[in-house]
Amino acid sequence: LPIHVLNGPNLNTLGTRRPEVYGHTTLADVETNVRARAQTYGLEVVFEQTNWEGQLVDWIQRARTEACGIVINPAALTHYSVAVHDALEMCEMPVVEVHISNVHRRESFRHTSFVSPQATAVIAGAGVLGYELAVDVVARNLGLG
Ligand code: DQA
Repeated sequence: LPIHVLNGPNLNTLGTRRPEVYGHTTLADVETNVRARAQTYGLEVVFEQTNWEGQLVDWIQRARTEACGIVINPAALTHYSVAVHDALEMCEMPVVEVHISNVHRRESFRHTSFVSPQATAVIAGAGVLGYELAVDVVARNLGLG
């Protein structure tokens, strides 16, 4: 089964949105890098982005039967979505929460995560490299690599 890489609100603007915080890499570049990393473990990738909470919930539910693991950057939904929390609670597979920026050195409203209690691992502040590191963590948890 593939790894599902799920991205939340505003991450479609990666590359132009606040580059001093999020860098110049686009989400398409992230997808290319993640696919290459996953391929080193023989893993396929389903890569998604949405600005809609319900769509993200649908994709998390789909992952329960169609994914070997989840890499998720829920973006702003991280900080308030009980729905995303509850959807992840049902997933019995490695789940890695990724934040491009170090949310802990930013505004206090970013210090709370409704996702971390459901995550196998949390990566924040490693820039877009965090997505590739998250693939490593999923693979290791699956006994690969
Ligand atoms: C983010 C951090 C969130 O606080 C923010 O709302 C985002 C992106 C990150 O990747 O650093 O949209 O998840």
